[in-house]
Amino acid sequence: MKTLTKTSLFVAGAFLGFAHIASVATAAENKLLPLGDPPIPADNPQSEAKIELGKKLFFDPRLGGDASTACSTCHEPDQGWGFSDALSRGYPGTVHWRNSQTVINSAYLGKLFWAGSKGSLESQAPSAAKGAVAGNGENDVMETRLAFIPEYREAFNKIFGTEWPLIGDAWKAIASFERTLIHNDTPVDRYLKGDKSALNKEQVRGMKLFNGKANCVTCHSGELATDQRFYNLGVPPAERWEDDGLAQITFRYELYAKGVTQDMYRHTKDDPGLYFRTKQTSDKGKFRTAPLRYTKYTAPYMHNGAFWDLREVVEFYNEGGGENEFAKNKSDLIKPLGLSEEEIDDLVAFLEGFSGEELQIEAPTLPAYAPLPDVAAQ
Ligand code: HEC
Ligand code: HEC
Repeated sequence: MKTLTKTSLFVAGAFLGFAHIASVATAAENKLLPLGDPPIPADNPQSEAKIELGKKLFFDPRLGGDASTACSTCHEPDQGWGFSDALSRGYPGTVHWRNSQTVINSAYLGKLFWAGSKGSLESQAPSAAKGAVAGNGENDVMETRLAFIPEYREAFNKIFGTEWPLIGDAWKAIASFERTLIHNDTPVDRYLKGDKSALNKEQVRGMKLFNGKANCVTCHSGELATDQRFYNLGVPPAERWEDDGLAQITFRYELYAKGVTQDMYRHTKDDPGLYFRTKQTSDKGKFRTAPLRYTKYTAPYMHNGAFWDLREVVEFYNEGGGENEFAKNKSDLIKPLGLSEEEIDDLVAFLEGFSGEELQIEAPTLPAYAPLPDVAAQ
């Protein structure tokens, strides 16, 4: 039962705050499943008007500090709805410190961001629009801007019943739009639903490796090809942190803002990931297992964009992962795999089966500001 599986997955997701208590079993464990429809929260039902508004807001840089940086600036439809550089671009004058994730299929995730720090799209959006190296916006300013765009004022009024747009409703609308960015009709989905011609021979061999010798399914399982747990694979630190002062500034700032020890603030040279949330030494360097759909379009890969194509990723796993500053926490599940060149090709071909047609939409035309005499008089 699809709904049952999904519910159990999400109920489990709600409790699995931290990797060390991640022992709740789900029906999805150790098996890939086709992806159904995304869950829709009861307090933010979908409607066409809300989705249309959310789409505009997603592309609108006025939901940010200096009206230069929209969600779409770092989640570009033609860059896999992410940003095609190892580290994302940042708010003007900054570089972000992590790779920009695709927003495709984010509707299904119970833990958002590389280290799973947000639980819903509604709470993720404001952190993006307000974060110092992302949108750097200020609630009151953003809200006032919305009020002085007549088309938005009308749309918020119709959808949410408010006289003036409320910023919280903007995040709801964006979340509704994101829930339409779905990629669940891939060759892998079709194959898992019974269409045996959906994958070619090479891909079928790759799938066997994925589920067997290469052991990928231990972590990349279920409907999303992720157990939404956290592991340190030994991904090496971002190259830019070695020699790019601007990138280092963001990294130090994040360490400081997230409250690490003096010693870490001064000396840590790598992203401690889940540790930021739990402050458990054993969580340093752990990141959420990444979902695998749409990855054909989302290079580079991993939290810091360490790898530029899927073959590089598979070669990394074949060598038994890598080494980073938090080697003590490296997962025991990551071991040399002994795959031949041909087997690597097969596995890469299978991974490509997680991506169907590229999802492209035309950027919407954004409505203009207008002075509102009736509002000014109130
Ligand atoms: C300056 C660049 C930038 C801007 C602007 C930005 N993002 Fe992001 N986004 C990122 C980066 C980088 C990450 C990963 C950050 C992390 O894990 O710490 C991310 C992660 C996400 C995720 C999590 C996906 C997942 O797999 O967990 C979602 C959803 C998302 N952004 C939506 C948005 C929305 C909505 C907006 C606008 C309100 C927005 N972003 C604005 C760069 C940006
Ligand atoms: C121990 C759990 C585990 C195993 C086993 C595992 N992965 Fe991963 N995978 C992860 C985690 C965690 C990440 C994110 C790591 C990061 O960003 O530092 C990831 C990331 C990825 C990514 C990058 C996706 C993106 O959007 O950047 C790909 C591709 C991938 N894995 C494929 C595989 C393949 C193929 C195998 C088998 C050879 C495999 N994984 C085995 C946990 C695992």
